[in-house]
Amino acid sequence: MTVTVQVPATTANLGSGFDAIGAALSWHSFVTLEPAEGLVVEVVGEGADKIPRSESNIAVCAVKTLLKELPEGIAEPLHSGFRLVLDNRFPLTRGLGSSAAARVGALVAANHLLGEPFSVQQLLKLAADLEGHADNVVPALLGGVTVAVPTESEVVWLRFMPPSEIRIALLVPEFALETEKARSVLPSSVSRTDAVFNIGRAALLVGALATGQFDRLKVAMQDKLHQPYRQSLMPWLPRVFEAAMDAGALGVHLSGAGPTVAAWCVDEKSAETVAQAMWQSLKAVGVNGFWRIVSLDPDGAKIVHRG
Ligand code: HSE
Repeated sequence: MTVTVQVPATTANLGSGFDAIGAALSWHSFVTLEPAEGLVVEVVGEGADKIPRSESNIAVCAVKTLLKELPEGIAEPLHSGFRLVLDNRFPLTRGLGSSAAARVGALVAANHLLGEPFSVQQLLKLAADLEGHADNVVPALLGGVTVAVPTESEVVWLRFMPPSEIRIALLVPEFALETEKARSVLPSSVSRTDAVFNIGRAALLVGALATGQFDRLKVAMQDKLHQPYRQSLMPWLPRVFEAAMDAGALGVHLSGAGPTVAAWCVDEKSAETVAQAMWQSLKAVGVNGFWRIVSLDPDGAKIVHRG
């Protein structure tokens, strides 16, 4: 009895939609889970040298949280322990939702082995509580472009695919940035002017993506709530944004808490031009990195092998 779940990288915020809007990307990691005696954790790929193999592993915690929530009386196959394999294909601590992917992958795998006792809604709530914010876990589970609004009792969400193809050029700087650190530079309150600036743009962003009016993205992705403050940790941000827009991007934003930059482009060719321009401008200030072109992942977490 074994199950492997494919789970996408995700980009959160999309500029104006701080802590609410996200999207699933065509760049995947894999989580395999099966019953075993005791706890066995294997990690291959990204982060294999530093991710803990113990109880403190975030995917192990996710499985254990799910097991604790099990309704009484369910005879579960994981009671003696489990073997968990994390095959990480996209980088960690770069604003690409690796922790959300590990947690969502583990929850979906465990739920499957247990006979699906939890609904999607319950899995989302568990994942969002573990993660502390819902903007990566919702697209990781559901795919597409998402809006996630946690309430006291549940995560209220919206999920859609834009009506036409779009490509996203990702510039991934070669340095780690913990989300916690990137949140520590944010102010605890903001002015009404800045709040209003973002509210209109976040609404415009959802409408523009849902209806395919991509020419609105330039303004819709602008932000005053987090990116200007995070610039203190990434001083090169304005010049990379400028390089992306000058090279023809539709809109550009910091991916989640950063340091990855995501530039939305009309097609593959444009995305390559934009990626090169961003990479050059980063290199010019002495920061290494690499780029990758992705599209939106419509599926979210899905089981790719069961045996
Ligand atoms: N939305 C959160 C932030 C997490 O910007 O801090 C993104 O991964």
